[in-house]
Amino acid sequence: MTPSDWPLELVVADTVALTAEIRSLRLKAIDGGPLPAFSAGAHLTFQVDLGGGATLPGAMETSRPGERCYSLVNSTDQSDYYEIAVKLETAGSGGSRFMHALRPGDRIRTTLPKNDFPLHHDPHEAILIAGGIGITPILSMTAELGKRSAAFRLHYASRSPETMAYRARITQLCGERGHLYFDYGDPSQGMPLAEVIGQPAMNRHLYVCGPRPLLDAVIATARALQWPPSHVHFELFGAPVAQTGNRPCRVVLQRSGLTLDVPAGKSILDAMIDAGTDPLFDCRRGECSVCAVRVLSGTPEHRDYALSDDDREHLMCVCVSRAQEGELVLDA
Ligand code: FES
Repeated sequence: MTPSDWPLELVVADTVALTAEIRSLRLKAIDGGPLPAFSAGAHLTFQVDLGGGATLPGAMETSRPGERCYSLVNSTDQSDYYEIAVKLETAGSGGSRFMHALRPGDRIRTTLPKNDFPLHHDPHEAILIAGGIGITPILSMTAELGKRSAAFRLHYASRSPETMAYRARITQLCGERGHLYFDYGDPSQGMPLAEVIGQPAMNRHLYVCGPRPLLDAVIATARALQWPPSHVHFELFGAPVAQTGNRPCRVVLQRSGLTLDVPAGKSILDAMIDAGTDPLFDCRRGECSVCAVRVLSGTPEHRDYALSDDDREHLMCVCVSRAQEGELVLDA
C-alpha cells in the first residue's frame, strides 16, 4: 500500500485493559474534530510495525511494516472517536503486540472505515452471535439495532467470565436480550446453536462473527435448518484463512498458458497475481466469491464460505481454497 492508502492519522486518546488479553483503544482525530462516518459492522485497516525483522543475536530489531484490520466497536453516532478492541496473540506475527504497546498520545495511520459486514437495510429481526473478540462489530450492530428499535437477540460466547470483554456494556445495551455462554474449555458446554438460531423466516437475519470453528458450526447449523444463504451474514475474525497445514500445489491456468507451482505459504490467488495475471478478487477471505474460477480438472479443497454445494461442483475460490492432491487445471 502507498502513503495515500492511509488517509487518516489518529491519536490514541486512551486505552483500557478489558481482560487479561484484550485491550480497548479510543482513537481521535489529531485536531479533535469529527471523524469520517461509518456504519455498524465497519472496520479500519491500521498501518502497523510487526518488528522483529532481525534474527541474528545482537542485531538491531528492524522495522517490518504490515497492516491489521480491527472492527469499530462504538455506536455510529459517536463521531468524535473510534473505539477498537485488540486481543493479544502472543504467538501471532506481531500486529496485536504492536497495538497493545500503543499509549495515549501515540499516533497511528489507518484507511477510511470500510464495511464488509453490514446490517441488512430493511426492518428485520436480528439474531447476533459472537465468539470471543468477534463481539467487536456485533456490539456496534447491537447499538444500531437499539437505535432502530429493531427486534434482536445477542448470543455471546467466551471461555469464562474473566475472558469475556464488554459484559457491562452488553447488559446496558441488551438487557434481557443478551445471552452469555461460558464453556470453560469444553466445547460440549457451548452455545446450543440449533436452539439459538431457530427457524428461518422472511424477516429474520443471522449475523455471526468469531473464530473459524464457530463460523463453521453456525453456518452448518443454519444450512441444516434451511436458512437461505442471503439471510446468513458473517465475518471471520482474524487473518485470512490460516496457512498452517498447507501443501504446495501445481495449478495450470489454461487460458493464460501458465503453470504455477504454488508454495505452501502462498494462496493460489497471490500466485496468479505474481505471475502477471489480473484475477478478480475482493475479500481475500473466502466470503464474497468474487475470485471464483471454473475448475476444469483436479480436486479442490474448498475453504470458502461463499459457494453453494452446487457451485462447488465446478468452481473454487482461489483466495483460500487449494488442491486436495495433484494438479488443478483452472479456466483462467
Ligand atoms: S476474494 Fe472473496 S472469496 Fe475470494
